[in-house]
Amino acid sequence: MILKRIFPAAPCQWFVSLLALSLFAGTTHAQTARTYSISALDISQVEQGWGEPQANKSVEGHTLSIGGQAFTNGLGTHAASEFILDVGGRAASFSAVVGVDDEVGKQGSVVFKVLGDTNQVLWESKELHGGDVPQAVSVSLAGVKQLTLLVDGGDNIDSDHADWAEAQLVMTRGRPSVFSALKEEAIILTPKPSPKPRINSAKVFGVRPGAPFLFTIAATGDRPMTFTAKGLPKGLKLDKKTGHITGTLKKPGNYTVTLRARNKLGTAEREFKIICGAQIGLVPALGWNSWNCFASAVTAEKVKSAAAAMVSSGLINHGWTYINVDDFWEVHRDSKDPTLQGPQRDADGRIIPNPRFPDMKGLTDYIHARGLKTGLYSSPGPWTCGGCVASWQHEELDAQSYGQWGFDYLKYDWCSYGQIDRGDTLPGLQKPYRVMRAALDKVNRDILFSFCQYGMGNVWEWGAEIGGNSWRTTGDINDSWSSMAGIGFRQNGHEKYAGPGHFNDPDMLVVGKVGWGPSLHPTRLTPNEQYTHISLWCLLASPLLIGCDMTQMDDFTLSLLTNDEVLEVNQDPLGRQAARVAQNGQLEVWAKDMEDGSKAVGLFNRGYSETSVTANWSDLGLAGKQKVRDLWRQKDLGEFTGSFAVSVPRHGVVLIRVWPAK
Ligand code: GLA
Repeated sequence: MILKRIFPAAPCQWFVSLLALSLFAGTTHAQTARTYSISALDISQVEQGWGEPQANKSVEGHTLSIGGQAFTNGLGTHAASEFILDVGGRAASFSAVVGVDDEVGKQGSVVFKVLGDTNQVLWESKELHGGDVPQAVSVSLAGVKQLTLLVDGGDNIDSDHADWAEAQLVMTRGRPSVFSALKEEAIILTPKPSPKPRINSAKVFGVRPGAPFLFTIAATGDRPMTFTAKGLPKGLKLDKKTGHITGTLKKPGNYTVTLRARNKLGTAEREFKIICGAQIGLVPALGWNSWNCFASAVTAEKVKSAAAAMVSSGLINHGWTYINVDDFWEVHRDSKDPTLQGPQRDADGRIIPNPRFPDMKGLTDYIHARGLKTGLYSSPGPWTCGGCVASWQHEELDAQSYGQWGFDYLKYDWCSYGQIDRGDTLPGLQKPYRVMRAALDKVNRDILFSFCQYGMGNVWEWGAEIGGNSWRTTGDINDSWSSMAGIGFRQNGHEKYAGPGHFNDPDMLVVGKVGWGPSLHPTRLTPNEQYTHISLWCLLASPLLIGCDMTQMDDFTLSLLTNDEVLEVNQDPLGRQAARVAQNGQLEVWAKDMEDGSKAVGLFNRGYSETSVTANWSDLGLAGKQKVRDLWRQKDLGEFTGSFAVSVPRHGVVLIRVWPAK
């Protein structure tokens, strides 16, 4: 148990009403019950997906208001939200009036839940939306020790402003206290890479005929190292010292190449398939994006430093490839900051980057020379989400610019396209992505196309058909447990839409130092939550885009991003996405089929205390004896018949791989 209790201040400071209650029938002692307002507890411990918890106000600081009814008391939060209270078996009841705050109009969709011990659901609201009448809750808490107030996002897109109005707890004795996570020790599980060579890059690579080819053989092991590639098709050449493969393939076809990496301690070998055809991005992209650390403070210099850090930290040796510039490389519509001002387009309509990005070609050359690739960001609307110039009615010209500059990835973010189309029909939602797809198809460069529209219109159902290599399935992530876990565990059901060349994207990583601006802070996820984050995103076959400042990574962060057996789960050529195969309250088992017939399995504990989690072979479609390997520790655990059970820490995971025992 790694929780500490935070006791409230003296009850006299509280919203307290007294009522006499005879607790135990037959006793002669009258007990004094006290009513505690939830908003008077230490609400700083509320975990929530966006903003800060507010006492007696909505999450945006307005008077609490649900369905036109105003409330003076209560907790204003945002899904996904979790508030855990220790009531010690001394509470009589909890009551509140819940709903989506009127500040979001008709938007938002949330479900409120009151959980008791072992996360038993004591009460659950229907799915509530902006404008709905408030729903009242009143639950008996007899015998309950731990009370959790949860709000889940219905569609998890945005505007999930959730009010627990008039929320109060009647205690028969004592006071409620609030649970908060204690600082966990950051234990590094990933073993140090061997000094002997090991090839870690993807086993398969898609390229279009005629497009410039760049693939780096990623390998760990002592340097100097020499690379060879047997069976490399005509048109490609390998730099033996760096492992960079470049050139062009003229004709479609499949090629099997044997890659070798040799140093003074030995030689590693890996079969590598090059598939020259229409499809690129056959495995999820591994890279970095500027948004979760720098946001509007990004500059070309910071992007170059990120590329240099991807090499010097050794991340490149584990297959990490893309260095992606998010919003704010463009000129801003009305910023007072001179580095965001300037001409937006030239006389021919070609986009002109802001003064922070004076030489786009120089920037991509710098990145490519290191064996890395690079990405850019735009919106189909007139402005990006940050208010910079975007691609509306300039799609072809912009795609040409990206190609000429040398970009390999485009994140295309709906943002102000809402001004052009309300987004309430499927053709309307698809149109801007079709237009940019057609524009990119005319460019002689392989540019991965990443849709970003937060999951509208069930984009997973049609993203591949419209030519997306990935599509965001959610609103923006932040570095809180409720945001990360809320998004990650909600991906179940999307697995049928993922496959080589087209993946679901539950948003970028929030490990390391993040900050969305000039000042950064260490992620607020605990170490176990970070293991959950990386394990889950690998199982989900999500693009993995590091969101931290890579020049400031500590050993723990690096260890999370350099475990080759864990990354292999993400990069498996079969391209399958994990699904939830079993759930018991807050305990979940997710499994993903791997190309070699094995299964990658995550045993997750979303609860607040360490608990045993069991993966039953029958839930995984397995029978008989199975060999189990712990992927984070890179250690065989033995052979197991029927099931595998393991103790999993609070908000943590054990990630295993399971093969039939010989
Ligand atoms: C949206 C996206 C983010 C980021 C910002 C940039 O919020 O979802 O990932 O790209 O825009 O303004």
